[in-house]
Amino acid sequence: MSDKLIIFDTTLRDGEQSPGASMTRDEKLRIARQLERLKVDVIEAGFAASSNGDFAAVKAIADVIKDSTVCSLARANDRDIARAAEALKGAARSRIHTFIATSELHMEKKLRMTPDQVFEQARLAVRFARNLCADIEFSPEDGYRSDPDFLCRVLEACIDEGATTLNIPDTVGYAVPELYGEFIRSLRERIPNSDKAVWSVHCHNDLGMAVANSLAGVKIGGARQVECTINGLGERAGNCSLEEVVMALRTRRDYFGLQVGIDTTQIVPASRMVSQTTGFVVQPNKAVVGANAFAHASGIHQDGVLKARDTYEIMRAEDVGWAANKIVLGKLSGRNAFKQRLQELGIQLESEAEVNNAFARFKDLADRKSEIFDEDIIALVGDESVTSEQEHYRLLALSQHSETGERPQASVTFAVGEQEHCVESQGNGPVDASLKAIESKVKSGAELMLYSVNAITSGSTESQGEVTVRLQLGGRVVNGVGSDPDIVVASAKAYLSALNKLHSNADRVAAQG
Ligand code: KIV
Ligand code: ZN
Repeated sequence: MSDKLIIFDTTLRDGEQSPGASMTRDEKLRIARQLERLKVDVIEAGFAASSNGDFAAVKAIADVIKDSTVCSLARANDRDIARAAEALKGAARSRIHTFIATSELHMEKKLRMTPDQVFEQARLAVRFARNLCADIEFSPEDGYRSDPDFLCRVLEACIDEGATTLNIPDTVGYAVPELYGEFIRSLRERIPNSDKAVWSVHCHNDLGMAVANSLAGVKIGGARQVECTINGLGERAGNCSLEEVVMALRTRRDYFGLQVGIDTTQIVPASRMVSQTTGFVVQPNKAVVGANAFAHASGIHQDGVLKARDTYEIMRAEDVGWAANKIVLGKLSGRNAFKQRLQELGIQLESEAEVNNAFARFKDLADRKSEIFDEDIIALVGDESVTSEQEHYRLLALSQHSETGERPQASVTFAVGEQEHCVESQGNGPVDASLKAIESKVKSGAELMLYSVNAITSGSTESQGEVTVRLQLGGRVVNGVGSDPDIVVASAKAYLSALNKLHSNADRVAAQG
């Protein structure tokens, strides 16, 4: 059996299904480029048939990514599969990932199909897909809770029809490591043609065991592909986290004995990019990518690490891409230096006009903040107001007044399409007053689900504040992110960014719906 383990990243598909994590085409493209730098083997770029926006994103990624296989999800029907194949046409290497639910519960209650109908649909879907693409992955959704006899029948037929990868999802995060590992092993042992396909694990984290289950699927079950997401992003409690599974395999190579092709120094930049793009903040004590993952607070630990690093550290911070905050640019830096830094960070803006726009914002920031770090630049280009032509709502100016004993007051000027509006409001605090002022004009009626502020670069009050606002309206949940040295301005930007997302009608079809 091969000792190469395939890393299949589904941040842009399963990760994006997390409520509020949906990304624009350009955001997805930027993350796909970072995933390529990270050297993931397969990038699941989206679900092409789910919306025109997702089709465009899969296509854009397929057209530019050269070193990773680009994959699109498709339900087990001809329309979805043809749409996936169409989006992937320009890819150097492509894969179609088709799926249908196989558990009794899902077949009966969700699909309202008999097992025989599901069997036939899975078989025909793989046959149809195989005529369009040589690399076909099949997933029996809710596979772990499916009847093993039925599952064996379906999987054997799918291999016969040409599936090259069989992925066994623990869709609802119900598995425990040993049982999941044994489950995969028994499927491989029972299916006569099982050696004709690569076996893959796909675990959700509802009981906090997605990484452990995936590793058991590899070690006990003999799987040679792991499906995972950056920061464990994903619906509910998320998916198996890429950084944890990769660093476990690498740090305990003595135990797993497998090769992974990941450039681990790109892990932290990828984590930051995903967190800044989606507004899903990484908890400080998160393994590998949390701000405290390599921080030693206790005197005994600090003393030990200074004497011999491996007393308390099993990985080196620099191996996963942690670097001390670096001052990269300042007020006097020119356009070329700025452009070069964008290139070094792997950020490609579409046009010279976008570079000019971002540079103007950089200058504006450098006037107000003496030291500009990489994180500031990533936030600056991630800020949707850079691509302001596409934005319906745009912040133009904000002033606010707060004083002990007085009710704070804010005045906000913003554009709605071509029109400029100036609105005022009072509030409990300056942030509250600013958001109320905007809402008094927009009247979105959206419910504020989350408001959070983080310092982009730690350790200094000079840092930019990064604000995440989560809004819910009519069953839709969106996240808006805004950054600025002034957290009231960052808050207004984040609120307008969320309103822009609500305003855009690029709704997606849920992959598991
Ligand atoms: O969790 C799941 O079952 C999935 C499938 C669509 C592969 O994401
Ligand atoms: Zn999933």
